[in-house]
Amino acid sequence: MDAIALLQHDHREVEQLFRQFEKLTERAHRSKQKIVMKVIRELAIHAAIEEMLFYPAVRTAALKTDVRALKEAADTVLESLEEHHVVKWTLSELEKMDPEDERFDAKFKVLMESVRHHVEEEQDDLFPKARRLLGKDLLEELGERMEKAKRIAPTRPHPRAPDQPPGNLVAGTVAAVMDRAKDMMRGGVVDRAKDMVRGGVDRLSRRAGQERDADA
Ligand SMILES: [Fe+2]
Ligand SMILES: [Fe+2]
Repeated sequence: MDAIALLQHDHREVEQLFRQFEKLTERAHRSKQKIVMKVIRELAIHAAIEEMLFYPAVRTAALKTDVRALKEAADTVLESLEEHHVVKWTLSELEKMDPEDERFDAKFKVLMESVRHHVEEEQDDLFPKARRLLGKDLLEELGERMEKAKRIAPTRPHPRAPDQPPGNLVAGTVAAVMDRAKDMMRGGVVDRAKDMVRGGVDRLSRRAGQERDADA
């Protein structure tokens, strides 16, 4: 898959999560939180591969080109980094927020607006320019590298971390290791909690059955 097709695929996945969120009722707090956690993970990984590989490739090519219309892509990349920065701050707040907080929905709605705006700019402006600047072969090669990078990218937002090479390559690797360790711990704790709840429910229903039998 070429780099642009891969990024567009991610955009569609996130948009689907947004639509799922929008269909939920106001009190579906748990489902909302689950979707928000998925969005955080998807966007953290997506932003990381854009910042580590795609944006630097586009910006370097844009700074070198003689085609005036394509030169603008160098500045568009800088704007994109700023938009990522704002999105990461919102994501890092949502990550710690209780879904029953009265501002949770409002914050997520603003996040959806910013992401949709950013995605529209990438798809309508940056990607067509990137296609001309990088060409088919380079986009294919970049796509392969991005696909591999996805497996080791940070899974959480790090708004204070550097977002351009070489700083983000080093900081991103460290962050990714820590994020994935946290993900594993969280998964483990959640699974253990589920087992405990399941065990408790089983015990209660067994006891209720015994009491019913004793009453009969
Ligand atoms: Fe982006
Ligand atoms: Fe994107």
